[in-house]
Amino acid sequence: MGDAAPQSRKGGSIVPAEIQQRRRFLDLSDEDLECLSRLKPLVAKRAAEVVERFYERLFQYPMLRDMLGDEDQVARLKKVQGNYIISLTEGRLDQQYLEDRLRIGRAHERIGLQPQWYMGAYGILLDELCPIIAEHFGPERQGEASRACLALNKLMNLDTQIVLHAYFGTRQQKAVEKSEQLAAVGELAASIAHEVRNPLAGMKGALEVLRHHLDAEPSRAEIADELLAQIERLENLVRDLLTYARPRPLSRQPVELHHLLDRVVRMVRETDGGSSLTWHRKYTGDVDKILGDPQQLEQVFLNLLQNAIQATEGGDSLTISTERRDKRIEIAFQDTGKGISRSDMERIFQPFFTTRHRGSGLGLAIVQKIVQRHGGDIRMASVEGEGTTAIVSLPGEKID
Ligand code: HEM
Repeated sequence: MGDAAPQSRKGGSIVPAEIQQRRRFLDLSDEDLECLSRLKPLVAKRAAEVVERFYERLFQYPMLRDMLGDEDQVARLKKVQGNYIISLTEGRLDQQYLEDRLRIGRAHERIGLQPQWYMGAYGILLDELCPIIAEHFGPERQGEASRACLALNKLMNLDTQIVLHAYFGTRQQKAVEKSEQLAAVGELAASIAHEVRNPLAGMKGALEVLRHHLDAEPSRAEIADELLAQIERLENLVRDLLTYARPRPLSRQPVELHHLLDRVVRMVRETDGGSSLTWHRKYTGDVDKILGDPQQLEQVFLNLLQNAIQATEGGDSLTISTERRDKRIEIAFQDTGKGISRSDMERIFQPFFTTRHRGSGLGLAIVQKIVQRHGGDIRMASVEGEGTTAIVSLPGEKID
């Protein structure tokens, strides 16, 4: 139950003035709190049985049962829950109250309990407590019973608000910390890549000189060729890493989209073995110039086409189409290749995720980054065995 994170790094803090505002909004009055505190002896007496029934109801859901943990943990939680129920009749909303609720939010975030379960659980507690309160007051004093249940409902609502505040605050904080960590790791990787680039170029140059002298010795020439091929792989990895981690600033200018696409198609057909595919172009006349960085857009189209070629074989087809949709231009690359599995689809834009033996795993991550820096987005759809479609959507204000 301990919550050892230092205060400054805890997600979702809240100031007392905000609590006052929320109290006013809920109309949770001092009389409500007094009304609840008069119930303390009753609630303290019946808390254990309420807790038992509460956990029985949670245990009906296997996912919650798994989260609740082993017997010892459940026993501990029952005690905590009992104290919590009694604390609802404490009648004070001081700093301690606030800290306790924030801690509950952080604890539930830690175990990954979805807020809807947590909120539903409050319903269960009310459902268990209100009949006890009604029984306590008896049929003649139902008005007082309703008043007490209403007060309880308001207080639980305030609790939920504070708990959720801490829950989402913690989540957000973790996301920020993760992205800071990723940025630091990315920068480290880029520095290493930068340092590796020069010695790699030196090794390649020296090896090429040696290779010249090996024409008469085919077996040694083969070894040198293999070494050169491996160096080229490393060079590609270093280049991709630097492109991803230290992207060049965009140099936007009018780009003739169809010319650029045709040029990239020619390039890949000559070098990447796309000649055995059937190529289709469906360009729309309405699409002409767009504003973008021609070199970086070339990289986007090149990576997407190389991916498509890798996923296809002779006889498959590849269709490139362009279309204007309101103020955006969509460029679609549709292949009839082997497709991408559902589980892989979730990870394709992650850096270093690759299904290819020789890929750096940065191709699509680079594509996504460049497209996003242009103010666009990329969507992928795929059916295994039928093919994949990548759609790049870019801002497409008409320019002359
Ligand atoms: C009315 C709703 C709920 C209340 C008032 C509540 C209250 C609490 C409290 C007071 C703690 C101790 C927090 C701390 O001081 O560290 C706690 C922890 C915990 N709660 Fe809840 N809870 C609720 C709903 C649930 C539900 C639906 C689950 C279902 C799995 C759950 C599972 C847990 C677990 C596993 C912990 C221990 C977390 C840890 O420290 O690792 N709670 N809860």
